[in-house]
Amino acid sequence: MARMSDPAALRVSYEHGRLDDDGLPDAWPPLLQAWFATAAADPAVREPNAIQLATVDAAGRPAVRTVLAKAIDARGVVFYTNYDSAKARELAARPLASAVFAWLAHERQVRLTGPVAKVERAETEAYFASRPRGSQLGAWASPQSSVVASRAELDARYADAAARFGDREIPAPPGWGGFRLSPDAVEFWQGRPSRLHDRVRFRLADDGWVRERLAP
Ligand SMILES: Cc1cc2nc3c(=O)[nH]c(=O)nc-3n(C[C@H](O)[C@H](O)[C@H](O)COP(=O)(O)O)c2cc1C
Repeated sequence: MARMSDPAALRVSYEHGRLDDDGLPDAWPPLLQAWFATAAADPAVREPNAIQLATVDAAGRPAVRTVLAKAIDARGVVFYTNYDSAKARELAARPLASAVFAWLAHERQVRLTGPVAKVERAETEAYFASRPRGSQLGAWASPQSSVVASRAELDARYADAAARFGDREIPAPPGWGGFRLSPDAVEFWQGRPSRLHDRVRFRLADDGWVRERLAP
């Protein structure tokens, strides 16, 4: 049967899971790591480490884009990007972001909000060294978020970078590296029938993490 093209007619009842209070951890990291492991183990989830990252510029104008989380631990979530990109300039002006993992195959989302800071250079260099050579060259070739004249200009920049490094090891470009979003609020959402979804939020208070249930 053809899928309906009227978005108002699309309707799914969320019945895959539940988020009961029993057994929930006192802080968010173990739950995020468990949900991420479940997503990463399921071939139905494309790009399980993709997050949508929202920032605002100095004037308060928001922007959102997808990036890939490359570390997920109790300190937060790390992503890599160009330090002259629009997002990096926004983060320089306003070092706060909000990100969402949307694991729709599991009827789950996790939202993280909090301060963002560049990771240590050694962490960027270690990650960059693990990237495929083509991605390393791409980082040197692309002045991310700048206007370029044509696709041909980009391809020429890539060829220049390839010629410049030859067979040599490629260092991380100085204008490229990681940011860590260290959340002070993390919210887990599990879809439930009748739109009575489960939402559990962890927020950082003076004396540690507070866990509370939110109305859907
Ligand atoms: C699946 C996917 C993964 C992406 N991963 C990254 C990433 O890890 N880092 C990055 O800088 N851009 C990534 N992008 C591109 C960004 O969405 C965006 O186009 C780019 O970073 C420029 O954003 P900005 O102009 O807001 O700085 C990805 C896009 C998609 C669709």
